[in-house]
Amino acid sequence: MKETMGESTDAHEKYGEMAARYADSNPDQRARAEYEWPVVRSLLPDVSGKRVLDAGCGSGYYSAWLAERGAEVVGIDASEEMIAEATDRHGDEATFLVADLREPLDAFEDESFDLVVSQLTLEHVEDWRPPMAEFHRVSKPGGRLVVSCDHPFTTYFVIEHEDPEIGSADATEADYYEVERYDRVWGEGEKRIEIPCYRRSLRGVLGPIFGAGFVLEDLREPRPPETDGPLAYFESHTPRFLVVRARKPSPSSRR
Ligand SMILES: C[S@@+](CC[C@H](N)C(=O)[O-])C[C@H]1O[C@@H](n2cnc3c(N)ncnc32)[C@H](O)[C@@H]1O
Repeated sequence: MKETMGESTDAHEKYGEMAARYADSNPDQRARAEYEWPVVRSLLPDVSGKRVLDAGCGSGYYSAWLAERGAEVVGIDASEEMIAEATDRHGDEATFLVADLREPLDAFEDESFDLVVSQLTLEHVEDWRPPMAEFHRVSKPGGRLVVSCDHPFTTYFVIEHEDPEIGSADATEADYYEVERYDRVWGEGEKRIEIPCYRRSLRGVLGPIFGAGFVLEDLREPRPPETDGPLAYFESHTPRFLVVRARKPSPSSRR
């Protein structure tokens, strides 16, 4: 992996600075409500009566959605402020814990979840092998993993083009095959924030999922809708997000 650059503040600390604002606005953002979330939702199995881990749950909006459909949900996030928001807003519906996906998830027993969902969080983690190994460990045989992340092509493209509208603060060039740190810029003026992200190749996304022992079930590259705002940059011609579903094989169905 390439040496990282920029300041050493972790992404979750940046999210912590804007936790309340994120909780208020994020679910309604068009890129989420009309683009990313419908695709994630379409890949979710029936969650009624299932135990679900929302890994990188932020302010808990999606944990609550899952709980409202009958799941027993545990949301984890490295940001104490995000977990405080999640607990305030949705603590009656789900359980929320501070946990860093770069560390072992010691709070959870082996084979204790039917579904692990991780939405738009793993781009803040440089090495995906530890979280994928933990997702596999805590998944029941036959359990599903649904991950959404920045699309590898798009992050490469963004860095190469350095468009300030969508942000690539420090990066000036990209090597598609490397895992590379870049800072995404959101907001302006007092609301301006730079969040550390790591871009990677398609193999960089799938390799750790396969390496942990999951098998791929589906892969989506949704076409952005015709819209204004940041998504318009992509002119509906390039995917902004990648969404995958994988399964932990049951002993009887190993392949
Ligand atoms: C874009 S938000 C997504 C939150 C939620 N999944 C959603 O879709 O609204 C990214 C989240 O990742 C969390 N995060 C960043 N690095 C993390 C890490 N190493 N471990 C756990 N959570 C992390 C941040 O605190 C933030 O809440």
